[in-house]
Amino acid sequence: MQKSDLEKRIKLIPLKNEHIDEVYEIERLSYSNPWTKFGFYAEIRNPFSMPYVLTLDEKIAGYIVLWDYGESLHIANITVHPDFRRMGLGRYMIRFAKEKARELGMKAITLEVRKSNESARRLYESEGFVAIGVIKGYYPDNHEDAVVYKYEM
Ligand SMILES: CC(C)(COP(=O)(O)OP(=O)(O)OC[C@H]1O[C@@H](n2cnc3c(N)ncnc32)[C@H](O)[C@@H]1OP(=O)(O)O)[C@@H](O)C(=O)NCCC(=O)NCCS
Repeated sequence: MQKSDLEKRIKLIPLKNEHIDEVYEIERLSYSNPWTKFGFYAEIRNPFSMPYVLTLDEKIAGYIVLWDYGESLHIANITVHPDFRRMGLGRYMIRFAKEKARELGMKAITLEVRKSNESARRLYESEGFVAIGVIKGYYPDNHEDAVVYKYEM
């Protein structure tokens, strides 16, 4: 299939130690309870984790962390830099996760999201993810509920 003009500018590459300062900056700008830098270093060493950075015109604009749960793929983190949101990069990474899950022969993709995170929930729902449950008080900073989403391959 032909690549769109946006797709031609995007690369998804495995996260490396040298990306972590920039990734952490995006994380800090994006969440009230960000992952730590140590957390990102740990993802690189975790054999069940597949962390990727997304570059747009060679500049880091986002990242996605995928966990291998055996029969399913779990999206542990998906984030786009505030300056590059609403361009389709989040959707691109969700589609990348679907490709990865297909490649690995997995049956489903799962994730959790804050109940109040309407933009992310809209993205997931528009990509065919279905809300399958709620985890009460899941987020430690404000005890907000998490909505669990699942995408069946
Ligand atoms: C959620 C997030 C990854 C989406 O990334 P993005 O690159 O901005 O998303 P896209 O441009 O691909 O948007 C895809 C769809 O999501 C929905 N969406 C995204 N941002 C939205 C917003 N601000 N308001 C309403 N809908 C929104 C829309 O349906 C959009 O499709 P459309 O532009 O055709 O209407 C990004 O907003 C982000 O990093 N947020 C902070 C971190 C976060 O909450 N991550 C998810 C944790 S579970």
